[in-house]
Parts: sequence; structure tokens; C-alpha cells
Amino acid sequence: MKKIRLFTPGPVMVPEDVMLEMARPMDHHRTASYREMHKELHELLRYLFQTQATCLTFTGSGTSAMEGVIVGCCPPGSKALVVQNGKFAERWVKVCNTFGIDHTALDIEWGHGAKPGDIQKALDADPKLDTVIVVHSETSTAARSDVEGIAKITRDRGMLLLVDGITAVGAIPVKMDAWGIDAYVTGSQKAMMLPPGLAFAAVNDRAWERIDSGKTPTLYNDLKAYRKSLDTFDAPYTPNVPLIRGAKFVLEGVKERTLEGIWTETAMLAKATRAAAEAMGLKVFAADPVDSVTAMVVPEGVDEAALRKTMRSKHGFQIAGGQGDLKGKIVRFSHMGYVDAFDTLGVLAALELCLQEQGFRLEMGSGLAAAQRVFTEAMK
Ligand SMILES: Cc1ncc(COP(=O)(O)O)c(C=O)c1O
Repeated sequence: MKKIRLFTPGPVMVPEDVMLEMARPMDHHRTASYREMHKELHELLRYLFQTQATCLTFTGSGTSAMEGVIVGCCPPGSKALVVQNGKFAERWVKVCNTFGIDHTALDIEWGHGAKPGDIQKALDADPKLDTVIVVHSETSTAARSDVEGIAKITRDRGMLLLVDGITAVGAIPVKMDAWGIDAYVTGSQKAMMLPPGLAFAAVNDRAWERIDSGKTPTLYNDLKAYRKSLDTFDAPYTPNVPLIRGAKFVLEGVKERTLEGIWTETAMLAKATRAAAEAMGLKVFAADPVDSVTAMVVPEGVDEAALRKTMRSKHGFQIAGGQGDLKGKIVRFSHMGYVDAFDTLGVLAALELCLQEQGFRLEMGSGLAAAQRVFTEAMK
């Protein structure tokens, strides 16, 4: 069997001990032991999001929790500013359209993150706006928005800030309470190093006030139903028990390593990858790069689909391509979760081999040496 190493920005590689933890005998969820596990998971999620807010666990992918948050926090009478700077940001506009939520889309060039100045200007232009929706780490372009700076504005104006942190939480600094974020969402298959299937939403009292005032019809992703069940650490519908057990196990490990330690390590991997790209003669796509994923521009004359195919079939590295308008133009490498300096050197070595095979002129080992210099400095 070929060894496949996932460098896609989700799903990511799952540690062996996590797989074993999830493989333990199936248990029922309407039991005291499930409730105890859920209670412990809730406290660990509070650590992950750096919050004292309510942390809801959905059996679904990240989109389910984000849809629940948007629908709940944007009832009739409210109006949202939705930052649109990539494929995932576009999805939140789609949610607004689907549920008839009044909104304005704020277009920002792909590869750029949203900055406080952009938000300030848009909010000044429309006094009806009372909510901002933004993607912290836009995975499709590998760009980071300044969520901390944006939160200062939304807080000052008494607005709600809803954040898609699906490839941010557990990878880059996220401080929900200290920054003043009202709802933050993530999914299991990213920095949490789990298979896909769970989504998490941290929701604070300011957001609950809005949610409790609204009446938008919704069922499976109804935040109020999840909150009611959480009173007894239960779930409104059948939860994915093995994944929840895995989540608790992963987060115990995260707490041991500390979030600060993980943020520093992820930043080191991203810095090394960006340095390698530059040394190989490739361009990093994002103007505001995020540390959880790196997008490199595919150079002239290189076939992106063939590059990704060979990376997998010959060398066992699964990387991601571009989405939407970026299809065929970029390749993306994850730095989230169960991946270290030596995995990263491996994928960069394979990239050099594949680029050379396609006739791209580069000095073999130039990217690797640049990455190693970053590691040497960081590991001193
Ligand atoms: C930033 C971001 N938002 C939303 C999503 C969608 O999440 P899911 O596929 O878990 O529904 C993803 C998935 O890659 C993502 O990276």
C-alpha cells in the first residue's frame, strides 16, 4: 500500500493514537458517560477558542455550524456586511441569499485579507449594518484577515462579529474573548487533526441575545436546540460519538503542548515553506499570507494538474490545487495539525523533483536549504 501524506488544507493527517482512541468500542450517547465526555470536551473547546462562551458541537462539516451561526445571528431586521475575498467567503454570501438575510457583500481582491480600514469604510456607508461576517483564514487563497483589528471596530459600534475560523482555530492565534469576537466556528478536519464530521461554534452572550430575539426558520442547525441540550451535556440529534471521543483526546494533547507552542510551530512551518518557494523561484500567492496554509503560484510552463498528480502517484504527497478562478494557477500546502519540520522538508523535496521533471529550471536543494535555514534559526 502506498504511503499517502496529506498536505491538503483539510482533511489533514490524523495521528495514530487519535485513530486508536476513536476505534474503541462504540458507546451510546444517552448515557452518563457520554455526558461526562461532552462536559470535558466543552471545557477543552473553551481553551481552544480562548473563551468562556458556550461551545456547541455539531455533527456535520464546518459549513453546518457556520450556517447555524449566520442564520441565528442575522434575523429579519438585521443587516450583515459579508467580506468576500475567496471561495469560502463566497459561501457565506450564499447562505445569506438562501435564507433571505439582508446583507451587503464587500469585495476584496483575492489573496488579500480584510483590514479594519476596509470594514470601517463599509460600515460608515450604511447605518443599517449591524453584523460583520469574515473568514479569518481564507483557505482558497491562503490569506489572513485582521480579525483582531476588525473586532475593535465591531465592539466600538455595538455590532456582532461572526468569524469563520475553520482553518484558523488551533493553527494561528485566536483569542475570542480578549479580541471581542461574538461567534467563532471551526471544523474537525483541519487543525484539530480529526477526520471530517464535526463542527464547533463558540457563541457569546451578545450573540445569544440576538439569536433569542430572532425567529428565522431553521431545524438541524438551530443553535438554540444545541444550547438547550448542552444544559445537560447532551446533543439534540445523534452525535458522532467516536469523533467526539477523538476531539476530547486531541484537545487534551493540545492543552499539554499549549496553544502558544502550536501557533509558534505552525508559523515556523509556514515561514520555511514561503522561504523555500522564494528560493526555488516561485511566488507566494497571498499578499497577506496566513500561517495555516501556503499557496504558491504555478510557474509558466508547468502543468498544475500533472504536478499534483505526480506529487501523489510518485512521491505520496497529496497537495491541493486552486479553486474557482485560481483553478490551475496555484498549489496549496497545509501546515495544520500532525505535520512537522521533516514532513515539510519531504513535501518540498518532492516539489523540487516534480518541478524539475516538468522542465522548470531550479537549483536542486535550493528550496530545502532555505527551509532548513528557517528551522535552524527557529530551533536554536
Ligand atoms: C475557511 C473555510 N471555510 C469553510 C470551509 C468549509 O468547511 P466544510 O467543508 O467543513 O464544510 C472550509 C473548508 O475547507 C474552509 O477552509
